[in-house]
Amino acid sequence: MKTRSNPVYSSIDTTDLVHAAKLIQSVAGGPKPAVGGVKLGLEFFLAHGAPGVRYAFPTPVRATGVGFFLDLKLHDIPNTVAGGIRAVVDLAPTYITIHASGGREMMKAAAEEAAAQAAKHNVPRPKLLGVTVLTSLDRSDLEATGVDADPSDQVVRLAALAQESGLDGAICSPHEIAALRKRCGSEFVLMVPGIRPVGSAANDQKRAMTPRQAVDLGASHLVVGRPIYQAADPRAAAEAIAREAGINDL
Ligand code: C5P
Repeated sequence: MKTRSNPVYSSIDTTDLVHAAKLIQSVAGGPKPAVGGVKLGLEFFLAHGAPGVRYAFPTPVRATGVGFFLDLKLHDIPNTVAGGIRAVVDLAPTYITIHASGGREMMKAAAEEAAAQAAKHNVPRPKLLGVTVLTSLDRSDLEATGVDADPSDQVVRLAALAQESGLDGAICSPHEIAALRKRCGSEFVLMVPGIRPVGSAANDQKRAMTPRQAVDLGASHLVVGRPIYQAADPRAAAEAIAREAGINDL
């Protein structure tokens, strides 16, 4: 039987550079990381840019083989999004996000640029993930933007468009995993936030699922923020969540 790799991506939601570096070292440092990857997002990247990534997530930690999710949620004309991708590929992110609602040409341009830049910098090609419908939007919010669709139908539509446009996967809530697996197949990457371990505080995640439920439904990766980075012992929290997700060899 194929051993499942650790699906947990620890979201490092802080602009404090030193704190981010400590958190990353604690959950992803060697010899054996407690997580499958770390996520750095907009707030960290806007505050510290590429030098901040190199500082907080240095080569020795990267060398443990842990994944790197650069959650930039790019959305602009194709040429500009391709330029954004070009600017970050040498950081060797495993995943980068772009908005699927930016359209086919934008996604194609991003995918082509990611492949070209990876070859140029001799790094693995970053996988591009489409942001579908933000979970902060409900049906009436969509309607106000001119989209007359149920959010879950719109998620499937945008994920399918992302796949047709050469993207590798999508971000989705736990409640959309089953529909997306059915529509996009087993190879499509599903990166899933809104995860809460058994018995933990939901915070503002209204429709959270447990790690085990999300993995059983077909999530590729689980994005977990506060339950890890706000824990008294982030590494122990990450290990417990990985175990809940079915990883036993930590
Ligand atoms: O603290 P928590 O586990 O809720 O954090 C989840 C992470 O996933 C955060 O970085 C948040 O921005 C992100 N996220 C989310 N819901 C989405 C998309 C991203 O919670 N729909």
